[in-house]
Amino acid sequence: MAAVKVTTVDELEDDTPVQFDDVDGLTDIVLVRTEGQTYAIGAWCSHADVPMCEGEIEDCAIECYMHGSMFDLRTGAPTNLPATEPIPVYPVTIDGDDVLVDVANPIPYKES
Ligand code: FES
Repeated sequence: MAAVKVTTVDELEDDTPVQFDDVDGLTDIVLVRTEGQTYAIGAWCSHADVPMCEGEIEDCAIECYMHGSMFDLRTGAPTNLPATEPIPVYPVTIDGDDVLVDVANPIPYKES
């Protein structure tokens, strides 16, 4: 499968995560626009399945509101406890005004 249109650039406000359900019939994602880039991550925290769209954005990371783990928006890696597992990250393409996401091909996680 290829990337599919999820929304348009002007629908995303800086540092305001937005959830999109059942993208491409595969999964729920959250889009985040910050520092001029758009990121697509899995919609649910890897620690206890709470919605990541409730999180705060800081320094290219999103903070889970429940227990405070931060996840790098570029890699999905948790940067502090209690979460120890990454969240999925998906390739984003901006095509004109369209935001396309390839949910069938998450970016492979690499431990740093
Ligand atoms: S539910 Fe997200 S850190 Fe615990």
